[in-house]
Amino acid sequence: MLKRIVYGVSGAVIVGLGLFSFYAWNSSIDPIAPPVNADYPPQVIEQGKILAAAGYCSTCHTTPGGEAYAGNYEMHTEFGTIYSSNITPDVETGIGGWSEAAFNRAMRTGVSRDGHHLLPAFPFEHFNKMSDDDISAIYAYIMTSIPAVNQVKKENGIPFPLNIRWLQAGWKLLFADTQSFEINENKSDQWNRGAYLAEGVAHCGACHTPRNALGGEKYDQMYQGAAIDGWIAPSLTSTSTSPIPWRAQDFYEYLTTGNSPYHGSAAGPMAPVMHKGLSALPKSDVEAISYYFADHSDAKESDDPAANSNLQTAIAAQHIQTDLRIDEGARLYATACQACHYSSDELVKGRPLLTLGSATHLDQPTNLVNVILDGVRNDQGISGVVMPGFRDALSDQDISAIAAYLRQAAGKSAWPELQQKVSEIRNQPRFEQ
Ligand code: HEC
Ligand code: HEC
Ligand code: HEC
Repeated sequence: MLKRIVYGVSGAVIVGLGLFSFYAWNSSIDPIAPPVNADYPPQVIEQGKILAAAGYCSTCHTTPGGEAYAGNYEMHTEFGTIYSSNITPDVETGIGGWSEAAFNRAMRTGVSRDGHHLLPAFPFEHFNKMSDDDISAIYAYIMTSIPAVNQVKKENGIPFPLNIRWLQAGWKLLFADTQSFEINENKSDQWNRGAYLAEGVAHCGACHTPRNALGGEKYDQMYQGAAIDGWIAPSLTSTSTSPIPWRAQDFYEYLTTGNSPYHGSAAGPMAPVMHKGLSALPKSDVEAISYYFADHSDAKESDDPAANSNLQTAIAAQHIQTDLRIDEGARLYATACQACHYSSDELVKGRPLLTLGSATHLDQPTNLVNVILDGVRNDQGISGVVMPGFRDALSDQDISAIAAYLRQAAGKSAWPELQQKVSEIRNQPRFEQ
């Protein structure tokens, strides 16, 4: 009897697995003979170039200093190391033999030309929100304008059983958002344009939306902040811990200049997003994105930060005299930081007020510690403006003392196990781009 149940159950499992693998199976799309006929009008190719920039294809598909789009950019995820694919038009190792249909299927469903499933580190769920015309333009641009590079993709370092490609079908079934972009009739054209870009090609949620244990985006917590590549992508909604709410004009200033005086600078993974990505878009598109996010953050354009008591408190906090003989953090801050982050009663662009900035107000010290360790390069934050890194000059203890001091000056509760965290952040793989 027991045996029979066991047979019955395992029979069901086998049938289930069989059905699932049938579901998980995708056909191979026949290769085409290159070169792709360059019949695309120049405007389409130009549009593709802009969209490829706005989708940061090169950020993920190019190793630092390596050849454009040739892949093997290393991504460290909690599931292991993932290497991006070669998407140059090389026939042997890239996508030179891909038809537009194969490219469209990969961008929409995360299935490679030969039918194997791709990992969601490739943000296909977002690219699926793009129109066919926009995906086609990117294809036209890559196939006609990117030099073919022969470079084999490295094996991903994902352990068994997560490395079984067809299991990705289960992941997609459970977590992937397969809806195409829908216009929200209750919102303006500008809002919808912003939503189309943010949810689609610019995939802001891939970093700013928290993920579940298996890496699926939690759509009910869209844009509420998440850890990514050793940084925190802060909440962009009304749950933001920023003392000054983000208005459309603040988003716009941050996304076009790399800094908002009320919030801070775009360093780490956010730097290429704005410098290499959004900077390619027409200003009206960045305005639309800003307008869309202002709706999520609930701030009104008419809200005057100058009238916000949090601003006055943060400015006043700089003037509080700490006994430098006993507060090590205050003393280190005065010697290492204050020459640039000087006390002033006005906000000065390019001199972030640290008692006000997001880095000090987040629930995690991660971004503050990253910036103290590695600074802000001239191609990050405000263009041409640099903050030096202190990786070699300050110990974990020094950095945690400064961070604790700033946190206290900002009137926030202490970060727990700070020195331990500083040490972990120092030793994590550094974000390079
Ligand atoms: C966040 C990083 C990231 C971004 C941004 C990104 N990709 Fe990728 N892409 C990947 C990774 C990683 C893979 C390989 C996934 C795997 O091994 O399963 C990949 C795979 C692909 C593939 C499949 C190639 C093949 O041989 O199967 C295509 C096509 C592709 N990407 C196109 C693009 C385009 C076009 C853009 C820009 C619009 C883009 N990607 C942006 C990370 C990214
Ligand atoms: C590759 C991951 C990634 C993507 C994609 C991304 N962000 Fe970010 N974002 C970050 C990180 C990390 C930070 C923190 C940067 C810092 O503090 O220097 C950040 C910071 C921000 C901030 C500042 C928040 C604050 O409170 O200080 C804004 C605003 C922002 N991002 C908007 C966007 C928008 C809009 C998009 C899409 C167009 C986007 N981000 C796409 C990773 C990303
Ligand atoms: C030589 C001048 C200089 C020194 C010294 C300096 N900073 Fe900065 N810091 C800057 C500048 C300039 C920026 C803005 C950079 C940009 O946007 O390009 C900045 C930005 C920042 C930011 C904002 C980053 C973000 O992601 O929002 C933080 C936090 C910060 N500094 C902390 C510190 C701390 C802590 C120290 C001392 C350990 C320090 N800085 C020392 C010049 C300096």
